[in-house]
Amino acid sequence: MSGTEINLLLNGKPVSKAAEPRTHLADFLREDLLLTGTHLGCEQGVCGACTVFVDGRPTRACITLAIACDASDVRTVEGFEVDPLMVRIRDAFTRHHGLQCGFCTPGMLTTAYDIIRRVPGADATRIRRELSGNLCRCTGYAGIVAAIEDVLANEPPIAPLQPMLRAKPKEVKPVLSGSDAAPTRRDTDGATQQPGTTGAALPDPASFADALHLTQSLTLHTAASDAWAILSDPARIVSCVPGASLDGPAKGEIIEGQCVVALGPIKATFRGSGSIQVDHTNKTGKLIGTGRDTVSRTKLDGMLVFAVQETGPDSCRLDLDMRYRLNGPLSQFGRPELVAEIAERLLQEVGAAIERRVQGGNDDAPAPIALNGLSLLARSIKAMILRFLGRG
Ligand code: FES
Ligand code: FES
Repeated sequence: MSGTEINLLLNGKPVSKAAEPRTHLADFLREDLLLTGTHLGCEQGVCGACTVFVDGRPTRACITLAIACDASDVRTVEGFEVDPLMVRIRDAFTRHHGLQCGFCTPGMLTTAYDIIRRVPGADATRIRRELSGNLCRCTGYAGIVAAIEDVLANEPPIAPLQPMLRAKPKEVKPVLSGSDAAPTRRDTDGATQQPGTTGAALPDPASFADALHLTQSLTLHTAASDAWAILSDPARIVSCVPGASLDGPAKGEIIEGQCVVALGPIKATFRGSGSIQVDHTNKTGKLIGTGRDTVSRTKLDGMLVFAVQETGPDSCRLDLDMRYRLNGPLSQFGRPELVAEIAERLLQEVGAAIERRVQGGNDDAPAPIALNGLSLLARSIKAMILRFLGRG
């Protein structure tokens, strides 16, 4: 078969197989490796039917390129056949009628396994929130939740698992040229509550103590001073964030604008305001903001702390610490692993855009209409092709 050789540790065994760069992991597993336990529903990252573990993290196989999993540890539902915890989960699903047609079940089992390991103290409300990224067309959620509660409530206790969000530095290279640069969304700074000009009160930083939390470090191939010049300028940093734009220049520390976010068929435009505080001496900053999508009646509050550290004459590290809270109908898509997956890609896009700006890219590049799974996938494919051609 043509394509590029992909080497995986698949369900504990080394596997090597060629695949085309555009092949997503779910097709690779189902069509090439004949592991049909991984189901495909929406193929847009929304329904969770295709959830598998990649390097210990629940991952949507339908929006993950197989080639991106080279050298990874991939575990599908077939790989849990004799796993003691999965045996208990399957038994509990049977006892509590946690499946009807069974189409969602491989993804539900995989997600249940993750919830039980990661949130051993979860109650029914938390379980429902954690399950919100997995859709059951038979609407059999009550049995699924009861099954997970049952496993959590009974001996032997489950060893807790540390959060699986990646914090290790990730290399970011400029992957695309000019027109892909997108504006970003910007929330705000923090410290005290202060109203934006839209009248919405900015959230208190202390209120993010129990909010969802993501951290990431990016290596930028540019001098720290150049990166900081962009990061500390609201208009320029917003122009690096996919889907975001400002209404006008910052008024002191206050900024106003919007951010368009799309995932599969769901699209939301969060309009709001924020404030930004920067410390030029230490090259650190904090943004706090709030926005509302009037169509879905969903509110998004966020806080982003960022810091630039020089690592060489032409390189630096960008540390990002993001906390956010979604309230409203769209919060069902706030499942940490799914959001972490999207946020990680988005932050990589931001890092690449900063490098392009430093290298003379067009600051006035128009904002893309939206950031979505398909456009990200297309960009990933393009980046890979460029790398294969030696231009990446
Ligand atoms: S098929 Fe992958 S999330 Fe729906
Ligand atoms: S049991 Fe039918 S889709 Fe969930």
